[in-house]
Amino acid sequence: MSSKKEVSIETKCIHEKGFVDKGQKMSMVMNPIYQGSTILYENYAEFTKNCRKDIRKVEDLNPFPEYGRIGNPTIFELANTMSKLEKGDFSIITNGGMSAVTTAILSYVSSGDHILLSDGTYTSTKKFIESICPKFGIEYSFYDGFKGEKDIASKMQKNTKAIFFESCASGTFEVENIDLIVEIAKKHKCVTICDNTLMTPILLNPITLGVDVVVHSLSKFVLGHADCMLGSITTTKKHFKKLYDYSTLIGNHASSQSAYMALRGIKTLALRVKDSVQRLKPVIDFLEKQKCVSEVLHPLAFTDKIRSANVKKYCKYGVPSLFSIVLDKKYDEKKLAKFFDSMQLFALGLSWGGFESLAIPYGLSHRIGKIAEYNNKTVIRIYIGMEDSKDLIDDLKTAFSNLS
Ligand SMILES: Cc1ncc(COP(=O)(O)O)c(C=O)c1O
Repeated sequence: MSSKKEVSIETKCIHEKGFVDKGQKMSMVMNPIYQGSTILYENYAEFTKNCRKDIRKVEDLNPFPEYGRIGNPTIFELANTMSKLEKGDFSIITNGGMSAVTTAILSYVSSGDHILLSDGTYTSTKKFIESICPKFGIEYSFYDGFKGEKDIASKMQKNTKAIFFESCASGTFEVENIDLIVEIAKKHKCVTICDNTLMTPILLNPITLGVDVVVHSLSKFVLGHADCMLGSITTTKKHFKKLYDYSTLIGNHASSQSAYMALRGIKTLALRVKDSVQRLKPVIDFLEKQKCVSEVLHPLAFTDKIRSANVKKYCKYGVPSLFSIVLDKKYDEKKLAKFFDSMQLFALGLSWGGFESLAIPYGLSHRIGKIAEYNNKTVIRIYIGMEDSKDLIDDLKTAFSNLS
C-alpha cells in the first residue's frame, strides 16, 4: 500500500503489507508461511554480498537474512506491519511479551546504570527488575504511577538511563502524562520505554509523542484469540543499532506459525478493539451502581483531576476493555469461590485480549503509593470479551447475589 495518502487505522490493518513477495506474478490474500533455519543463496557472489553483512542501519536489513534466527519473510512481514501501525521505523518480533520487555530493558541499560519504573507496570516486569537486573549490576527504583511525573522528577538519578511505564497501567489502569515523562527523559538524556499492550497500536502510538521504544505482548489483543504467544519491540532509526545487536545476540526467535497468526489477527484488530469498547460501557455503568463495589479502576470511571485529565489527553480513540473493581471489603475464600464459580460466561483464567470474557482475583500488593490501601479489600480484574453485554451483566448479577 502506498504510504502517500493517510488512511484510517481500520484500513491500515487490512492493507498495510509488511512484505511483498516480488518473485510472484499472482498472490494469495495472505502470504505463505516461511520457516526454517537455512536460507539459500543463488551463487557465491550473492552469498558474499549478503551473508555476514554488518547490519548498521534499518536500511541494511533484508527479509531473507543470513540465518533463520535473525528472521525470515513471515517474521519481517509482522515486524514491518507493527512498525507501520506503531509509526516507528523498525520492529523486533520476540517469542512473547516478557522477552520484548526484557530485551528492550537490557538493550539500553547496563551495569552501573539505573532504571526508573512506574509501580503500575505488569507484575512479571517488576519481578524481572527486582530479581534479574541486580545480577547485572543494574540499579532500579519505582515511582508512584498515580503521582506520575511529579514522583518521576524527584527519583531521577545521575545514572538513570531509562524510564519504563505502561500506556495504561496493569491492574489499576491509570494513564500517565506521557508528554511530561518524555520531557523529563529528554532533559536527563535517558530512553523512554512504554509497554503499549493495553492500548494497542489502534488506540495510542507512543512514538508519535516522543517515546523511544514501544513494547507489546502480542499474546493479548493483537493475536486476539488466546491461542498463541508473541511479543514485539518497535523503535526509531536512532535507536536501531543497540536493540538489533542485543536482540539478535541474546537469541530472540519467534515462531513463523505464531507470526502468521498475529498477521491474521491484525486484519480484524481495529474492529475488535473498537467494538469491545461498545460492550464495555454498559458493564462499567452496571458495576458502578453495585453496593458492594467501592471503586471501578478504569479510564472511563476516573473522576479525579489528574487521572481524568490524562484520560482526556491520551484516550481519544478509545480505552482497553480490561479493568478492575475494588469491593467494599475483603471477602473470605468461601464467598469468593461462590462468586467466581456461579458465573457461566466469565471464565477464570489469566491473560486477556481474546474473544472470551474473564474474571480473576487480583492482588495490588506490589503498588507503593496510595493504592496500597486496597490491600485490605478484594480486587477483581475483569476482561470484557465478545459476548453480548446484556448477557455479561446477567452473569455478574448472579455472581453478586452470591457475595451478599
Ligand atoms: C502489560 C503486559 N506486558 C507484558 C506482558 C507479558 O506478555 P507475555 O505473557 O506475552 O509474555 C503481559 C502479560 O500479561 C502484560 O499484561
